Amino acid sequence: MVDLKYIGHSAFEITHDDKAVLIDPLVSVNEKYDWHERPITDILVTHAHGDHLGEAIEIAKEKDVEITAIPELAEYCKEQGAKTKPVGLGAWINYSWGRAVFLPAFHSSSLPDGRYGGNAASILFDVDGVRIYHAGDTCLTGEMKTIKELYAPQIALLPIGGNYTMDVEHAAMAAKWLGVRTVIPMHYGTYPEIQADLERFAKLIAYGNTACQILNPAEIKQ
Ligand code: NI
Ligand code: MN
Repeated sequence: MVDLKYIGHSAFEITHDDKAVLIDPLVSVNEKYDWHERPITDILVTHAHGDHLGEAIEIAKEKDVEITAIPELAEYCKEQGAKTKPVGLGAWINYSWGRAVFLPAFHSSSLPDGRYGGNAASILFDVDGVRIYHAGDTCLTGEMKTIKELYAPQIALLPIGGNYTMDVEHAAMAAKWLGVRTVIPMHYGTYPEIQADLERFAKLIAYGNTACQILNPAEIKQ
């Protein structure tokens, strides 16, 4: 059984049986999500910006689990006392709950102390045959056509807020290029500069015969 929870902003939890994986854990955006109570076995972070690194270090230390990230970001997490798994782009990484591959994202990545954070990434998950693509922060890119060809994701988690990432128009195009059946929008509404018209997004997605699922973090259940 694979389950996907939207915590808020770009933070998601994927569960497989009795294991939970956190992605871009800015969990502070959702007071209903109590990570202390969750069976977290891994944390994966797309890039070093604070709205994605979130509370990763604190959670990793308390749960005694690894943070998987691009080497520059992993090194920073290690300096802060967390266990890490540094990875590059393009290789499957095996876990107790499934596997994941870090892929390109077109975006910057700087650490909280201003140092370079390495490549920004997106992450493709394969959990018991369910393929979920978390785009991280990125613009629309032709890489998405390659991702469809190589990995055939079924579900895409796409930023739609514009300003730092794709907006609704480009995210709808991304869904088409990725060939996914289901799209879940993320990275919108958290800050004044990343507002998005969800109705318009759902309409644009519907043209491509893809389902748009708008998950409301306020309805999260433990
Ligand atoms: Ni960012
Ligand atoms: Mn961001």
